[in-house]
Amino acid sequence: MAKTKTLFFCQSCGHESPKWIGKCPSCGSWNSFVEEVVTKNETDRHDWRQDSSKNRISKPKTLNEIESAGEIRIATPDQELNRVLGGGIVPGSLILIGGEPGIGKSTLMLQLGLSLQKAKVLYVSGEESEQQIKMRAERLSSNPKGTYENFYMLAETATKNIFQAVESLNPNLIIIDSIQTLHSHLLDSAAGSIGQVRQSAGELMKFAKETNTPVFLVGHITKDGLLAGPKVLEHMVDTVLQFEGDRHLAYRILRTTKNRFGSTSEIGIYEMLGNGLREVSNPSEILISQKDGQLSGATIGATIEGNRPLLIEIQSLVSPASYGTPQRTPTGFDQKRLNMLLAVLEKRCGFRMGTQDVFVNMAGGIYVEDPAIDLALCISIISSMEEIPVNDKICFAAEVGLGGELRAVNRIDQRISEAEKLGFQMIYISKYSQKSLDLNKTKITVKVFGKLEEVFNDLFG
Ligand code: TYD
Ligand code: MG
Repeated sequence: MAKTKTLFFCQSCGHESPKWIGKCPSCGSWNSFVEEVVTKNETDRHDWRQDSSKNRISKPKTLNEIESAGEIRIATPDQELNRVLGGGIVPGSLILIGGEPGIGKSTLMLQLGLSLQKAKVLYVSGEESEQQIKMRAERLSSNPKGTYENFYMLAETATKNIFQAVESLNPNLIIIDSIQTLHSHLLDSAAGSIGQVRQSAGELMKFAKETNTPVFLVGHITKDGLLAGPKVLEHMVDTVLQFEGDRHLAYRILRTTKNRFGSTSEIGIYEMLGNGLREVSNPSEILISQKDGQLSGATIGATIEGNRPLLIEIQSLVSPASYGTPQRTPTGFDQKRLNMLLAVLEKRCGFRMGTQDVFVNMAGGIYVEDPAIDLALCISIISSMEEIPVNDKICFAAEVGLGGELRAVNRIDQRISEAEKLGFQMIYISKYSQKSLDLNKTKITVKVFGKLEEVFNDLFG
């Protein structure tokens, strides 16, 4: 039997070589050679229906000729997952879920599989044994009745064997945990290498598109926070979800970084409990710490993540610098933006920030990019510096410009109504946001200002 032929190709210039070489003789780049299949053995059924595709010739069609499938989506019982996927799982889609080890990817996938009681789910694990998965399943509360009739488990890493099992089982959903453990026998390289990851993902993609079965792939993340494996993996799949959070805190955030079927600005929030992940439907509750008495340096900003308003607590600590260069350490916020805001406070408002260490922390381990947090952050810094607490029934939503002016932010009405819903009594916004607002309808007091300084005068006198 003729063996499948593979060659090594340089990823940057395409130079080919029969064996692996460290430095490309053509373009000079290092470590760029990856093994790829060049001729496929016809008799060997290694790929998903390799032979069926040969008889099919695609013809160009006008969009009119193509029948619309409508928007069919499989809604899962997990509302947070539905939200990040843009309303449910699209049939035939390939979804990659990445995250650091131990963040809860396997737990999330297992929980999803168990909660879809009507659909036949195949969970392929290359990392854990059948007993381990069973033990974990019994601990999770997502399936209170404990019936696992439609949930199939396969401890396997060879793609050939996986496809064989799939053909006899015909599942409605496949979960692969993880793509780095898969191994295609067409390549000699070890599982987890770039060539293997790409080849296995390619076979799975073909399978998903041809059978219209959704496939979830769990992917590991390298030390620098990138999905391990080639960047091309992200191009191949339809949706990339990122599972993140501080491992020492219970909260986990599921973020979409690519989605062919929905918006990428959505986030889902979970809490890791002893019996699995719990959806957090009212995130503001967890992002505002419960405390007795008022603390200087703590303020609350009304931000928007995706389509969802979130009220987030910011804590700052400002103390005299003991070394020459003061430290600026933000957690959950951009360092450069913090430097800019400190410069605005120094230059436009006359605070001596140059001799102070500044530490800033977003509650709940969340990373905030919304510029509407600026005002709350500036107030928090000054509150800590001057040791004056800010009333915890007040929140803020405005961007701060380089001139110390308050700038308008988007969807201000949504922010105000969320603050009102959570029992805040007052919100400070920019006067330029005011135009689109009907202030008579709101119960919460809305204070409008044009400059940062005016807010300080109003709050601290
Ligand atoms: P896991 O899903 O195995 O992470 P990943 O697949 O991303 O590597 O989750 C691992 C962590 O989650 C583990 O450290 C323990 C914790 N955990 C709980 O706190 N409660 C639970 O019910 C489960 C299943 C896990
Ligand atoms: Mg795992």
